[in-house]
Amino acid sequence: MKFFIDTANLEQIEEAQALGVLDGVTTNPSLMAKEGITGRNNILKHYVDICNIVDGDVSAEVIATDFEGIVKEGEELAELHGQIVVKVPMIKDGVKAIKYFADKGIRTNCTLVFSSGQALLAAKAGAAYVSPFIGRLDDISTDGLSLISEIRQIYDNYNFSTEILAASIRHTMHVIECARIGADVMTGPLSSITGLLKHPLTDIGLEKFLADYKKGNS
Ligand code: G3P
Repeated sequence: MKFFIDTANLEQIEEAQALGVLDGVTTNPSLMAKEGITGRNNILKHYVDICNIVDGDVSAEVIATDFEGIVKEGEELAELHGQIVVKVPMIKDGVKAIKYFADKGIRTNCTLVFSSGQALLAAKAGAAYVSPFIGRLDDISTDGLSLISEIRQIYDNYNFSTEILAASIRHTMHVIECARIGADVMTGPLSSITGLLKHPLTDIGLEKFLADYKKGNS
């Protein structure tokens, strides 16, 4: 499973990259605003800065909601850097734009997906990634992980090449369950990646190994 980090914070992206397990980055307008990145030029520059830190795909989201606007913005984003994947919302004009981009060889990430029907449409249109938001489904007492399982089954039935990018990951158990189900990618906060390191028996074991070494070598 690929690990993406879901942030526009350059320090956190650098930290995840330095760990050696990062495969890409996802951003959205809320995450850019959270970092205080405003104004079209600053936003575009920030995407390039992110691409220069990581080796893998960087999702950059369009703001337009009409077909012509999505295409114009998406083409501008795609031209920024070879690692950019254009993030397009799951709306009617978004689906049309995903198909348009696919025909032109521009890769897309279909975002704001909350049902298997939407995921089926995204794959049919030729999205490179589909982003089901599992945390936001859990927030409204709906099992987000079940959606990942349903999409996995549908995509496997027809050998769709669209990668399932489990988004709105909130914690390590989401990551582990997504890996069990067979999501292709997970995107979450840095804590959902570094949290995988933690086990008290590792800490206790290491402490004992080091203490025993010290006894034998003092
Ligand atoms: O990038 C989209 C998604 O990951 C948002 O997550 O935590 O705002 O639901 P969240």
